[in-house]
Amino acid sequence: MDLALLISAFAAQKESAKRSQQEVLYRSLRDLLLDGRIAPGTRLASTRVLANELGVARNSAVYAYERLAEEGFVAATRNGTVTVWNGSAHRDMQQAGVPLTHRLSDRVQGLGNPQPEPDRMLPFVPGLPSLDEFPIAQWRRCVERAWRRLKPGQLAYGPAEGLSELRRAVAAYIKVSRGVRCETEQVFVTDGTQSSLELCARMLADPGEYGWLENPCYNGAKAAFRSTGLQLVPIEVDREGMAPTEDQWRRFPPKLIYTTPSHQYPLGSVMSMRRRAALVEQARAHGAWIIEDDYDSEFRHGGEPLPAIQGCSADAPVCYLGTFSKTMFPALRLGFMVVPPMLVGRLRDTLRGLVHRGHPADQLAMAEFIDSGLFARHLRRMRALYIHRRGTLERALGRHLGSALSIRESSGGMHLSAELAIPVLDQEVARRAADEARLFLQPLSQYGVMDGRTYNGFVLGYAGLADAAIEQAALEFAEVVERHRRLER
Ligand SMILES: Cc1ncc(COP(=O)(O)O)c(C=O)c1O
Repeated sequence: MDLALLISAFAAQKESAKRSQQEVLYRSLRDLLLDGRIAPGTRLASTRVLANELGVARNSAVYAYERLAEEGFVAATRNGTVTVWNGSAHRDMQQAGVPLTHRLSDRVQGLGNPQPEPDRMLPFVPGLPSLDEFPIAQWRRCVERAWRRLKPGQLAYGPAEGLSELRRAVAAYIKVSRGVRCETEQVFVTDGTQSSLELCARMLADPGEYGWLENPCYNGAKAAFRSTGLQLVPIEVDREGMAPTEDQWRRFPPKLIYTTPSHQYPLGSVMSMRRRAALVEQARAHGAWIIEDDYDSEFRHGGEPLPAIQGCSADAPVCYLGTFSKTMFPALRLGFMVVPPMLVGRLRDTLRGLVHRGHPADQLAMAEFIDSGLFARHLRRMRALYIHRRGTLERALGRHLGSALSIRESSGGMHLSAELAIPVLDQEVARRAADEARLFLQPLSQYGVMDGRTYNGFVLGYAGLADAAIEQAALEFAEVVERHRRLER
């Protein structure tokens, strides 16, 4: 074995990182073996020689050899430790290959987002509840109790449809709070609405069929429909919600219709009863499924929310999607879908082949959180907080931007959408706000479906902003707009 080679590799590794001697020695040897600089069959120096030459403890040398042996690089023989890893053959194999030219599927082309992940704690990031106000201690106690109750058998693959405890709790909750008609067996636990959307698109439609989307639309729905090969059809939204035309029903008969009737995302309108009834009737006639995304209806700001479309009539062709991302916290990754009784059996059987469900402790904890009343109490607090924060934001925007900004009317939620009265591109203002003021302004034009339409508006999330932060963010927003306006002149 060429000890000089190892000594210089060891010295270089020692320089570059703060690691223990045994770790440095192991890594030096492993790297020499990996790139073929120590040939297979080489007899390595004894641990005693190694320790002397490198000035390390004998135990460090023993550790390095044992770890290399466990990983299959060397083997202990009667003649000492011998390398068995054929590094040069491995390297030749890597180099001989033709460079990979594989590409992603057509279905996901254009879905990528090359921007770095935004800092989600920046003012105005949409879609986040008030994470500071989440009752972590209460939740942790529920999770701890769940782990104590779990039996070893529940650490195996869980039922694809979710744990019955959570399904029962969800059914009871949405029957009362959202007027959803359902029995426990109709509730399927998922990893959140994104996962529900993908499952619906895969199980209820075939590639090439038409998938209708509100325009503008929640980008997650767009991604789910596109990536499952549906042909997207943008449907305009007005003050009464989604407004499909007769011509669209005739020329692009849908298989799936995605809608956010209780609080259109991102514009905020509530679908009228008239439109709801017409949508259900037409969907039934065309053999289409309505995918009702009820993502934030818990936070209605005035009066009771309209009941879900799902509950409008018995056996409506509706899959109702709910999420705990807004009512609890997004990292929980728990949501649910409620499907019509005629789908229950087939869906359950199909799901068994498609998903392996896990996180039993979180499911049990969520069930307890709902059953114990902690969930309702948390929602009550958050509802009051979000009403307050919205009012504070509207007043601050009014003070600092005045007639330069018009806020769309909306029934509640955790964000508002607002448009600038000056002719600028929202993406340009958003970029400036991010660079100059560390504000996250989500441009409305990023929600368009296939029409390249430009808006000059933004979705402004406010649920996580305390009063002082709202005031400061509104002021900075106004300053960015003013600087932009001066440059444009
Ligand atoms: C319209 C809409 N639906 C659903 C979700 C939540 O999805 P998930 O449950 O995958 O977190 C969001 C989150 O921002 C949303 O804006």
